[in-house]
Amino acid sequence: MENIPSKTFTEIREEISDEELQSLTAAIKTRYGIDFTNYETKSLKRGIARLISKYNLGSLVGLWSKTLKDRDFFLSCIDDLLVNLTEMFRNPEIWIKIKTDLLEKIKLNSSIKVWHAGCSTGEEIYTMAIVLTHSRLYSKAEVTATDLSSQAMAKAMAGVYPQLLWKKYLSSFRQYFPDGKPEDYFKLEGEEIKINDSLKKNVTFQRHNLVQDRMSKKFDIIFCRNVMIYFDEVLKMKVLNLFYSCLEPEGYLIIGYYDMLPEAHKELFTLYDATTRIYKKKPVTPVAPK
Ligand SMILES: C[S@@+](CC[C@H](N)C(=O)[O-])C[C@H]1O[C@@H](n2cnc3c(N)ncnc32)[C@H](O)[C@@H]1O
Repeated sequence: MENIPSKTFTEIREEISDEELQSLTAAIKTRYGIDFTNYETKSLKRGIARLISKYNLGSLVGLWSKTLKDRDFFLSCIDDLLVNLTEMFRNPEIWIKIKTDLLEKIKLNSSIKVWHAGCSTGEEIYTMAIVLTHSRLYSKAEVTATDLSSQAMAKAMAGVYPQLLWKKYLSSFRQYFPDGKPEDYFKLEGEEIKINDSLKKNVTFQRHNLVQDRMSKKFDIIFCRNVMIYFDEVLKMKVLNLFYSCLEPEGYLIIGYYDMLPEAHKELFTLYDATTRIYKKKPVTPVAPK
C-alpha cells in the first residue's frame, strides 16, 4: 500500500479557515466556559496546528471531536494553545530599573503588593522575589501569581526547573546582580534547579482567566508580560480596564517588549519608561460640576 505522507505543520495551519477557528472557539466556550474567541487568530491557529500534529489528529475535525469529548485531553492541551515560554531575569535591564527606581519610590509603603498576571511556570515571580529580597523588601511583599493554565501554575508552585537551563539562568542572574550569590536564591540539586523556599513564602497562587475573571485586590505593580500578544484589541482593552481598576493610584503596569497596546490605552495609562515598557496609572480626572 502506498504511504500517504503526513502533512507539515505549515500545511495543517494553512488549512484552518477563520470560520472553522471561530466555530471551534465558540464550541469550547459553550462546553468548558473558557473563552478564546477574541484571541489573536494567527497565534491560535499556530497553537491548534501544534496540537493536531503532536497528537496526529490529521485535521481540525479530528481535534474538534477529541477536544469536545475528552475534558482531560482539552485541559492538557491548554499549554500548547497558549505558549508558556518564560525565563528567569527575562530582559535584565527591567529588573535593574525596578530595583533602582520603582522600588525606591514605594519602599516606604507599609506593604508592596505585586500581581504577576500570566505568570506561566513562575520564573518571573521568583525573579521579582530575588529583586525584592536584594532590596530588603521581600518581608513586606504580598505577591499574587495567576495564570489560566493549571499545568503551568503547578510548575510555578513547585519552583523546580530543568538542569539544562542552569547556565542561562546563572548568566542572566549575573547580569542583574554581578556580586550576588545565586545559592541564596536557587540551587542545582541533581538534575534540577530548585528555587529556595524563602522566595515562595509570600506568594499566593490562583488560577485566573484575565478575560473572564474579576480581581478584588489592589496592587502597586502589575506584571503582564507577553500575555496580551495573544489578544485582539477588544480583549486587550478589557484586560487593561481590569488592570486600571486593580492598581493603586500611581501604580505601575509592566508589559512585554513585543506587547502592542491599542491607542485607547492612553486614557488609562501614561508611558513611564519606554525602554522597559513600564506604564503608570493615570490619575482619575475629576468630573467638572454641571
Ligand atoms: C508567554 S507566557 C508569559 C510568561 C511571563 N509573563 C513572561 O513574560 O515571562 C504567557 C502566559 O499567559 C497565559 N495566558 C494566556 N491567556 C491567558 C488568560 N486569558 N488569562 C490568564 N493567563 C493567560 C498563558 O497560560 C501563559 O502562561
